[in-house]
Amino acid sequence: MTPRSRNRLRLGVNVDHVATVRNARGGAHPDPVRAALLAVEAGADGITAHLREDRRHISDADIEALMRDLAVPLNLEMAATAEMLAIALRHKPHAVCLVPEKRQERTTEGGLDAAGGHNHLAPFVSKLSDAGIRVSLFIEADPRQLDAARSMGAPVVELHTGSYCEAEGAARSALLKRIEDAAAYAHNAGLECHAGHGLSYETVGPVAAIPAIAELNIGHFLVGEAIFTGFAASIRRMREAMDAARPR
Ligand code: PXP
Repeated sequence: MTPRSRNRLRLGVNVDHVATVRNARGGAHPDPVRAALLAVEAGADGITAHLREDRRHISDADIEALMRDLAVPLNLEMAATAEMLAIALRHKPHAVCLVPEKRQERTTEGGLDAAGGHNHLAPFVSKLSDAGIRVSLFIEADPRQLDAARSMGAPVVELHTGSYCEAEGAARSALLKRIEDAAAYAHNAGLECHAGHGLSYETVGPVAAIPAIAELNIGHFLVGEAIFTGFAASIRRMREAMDAARPR
């Protein structure tokens, strides 16, 4: 691996909202698998899809097709439930990101309480890891949550960037500092650090510049921007923003 590629920040493109648009009419168009293949051509290093309990966007058939057709890693986001565990163990995606899930929420709100939920989450981490799946926990940028993730043997954490993206001015800077500190803490603790939620061209730069972060997962903004510029162009522009921000 060259020094350049070792430092390269990976981009995981989340195709959930391609499925949201498809499901608005109940047919097959637009197909999230076609979007995933296009995303890879445009520079995505991996594809992320969240199979929610209520199947509001990605379906079981989408996961099956993504597993069959993708040549890049699939990161399956899921809640820590028996149903989802069985699905993950059947498909064995490259990675599983455990996320909190509430039926009434519009999107994933906040990170997992890994510290408070240790006894519930630890068996999911070990069963998925035993099956060769790389497990990450979607958590807030908080050393307590990072310690909990490490103590249950998760190799990866994904830091929630939603509040940082929504904040403005000094509040945004303070939240960015928390993400920077948490990424350094994760790195020193031997955890691979990812980040995501709410990232856009405007907010991605400072997060992409954090050297301890290895991967960003981005979906909603890219799918929305695709309406104006096309999906491939939105991904290429995000890739350029990430590369421009990354310290060499
Ligand atoms: N990471 C996680 C764990 C998520 O749940 C989501 C949303 O599904 C994302 C990243 C991507 O967030 P967005 O769609 O806002 O870019």
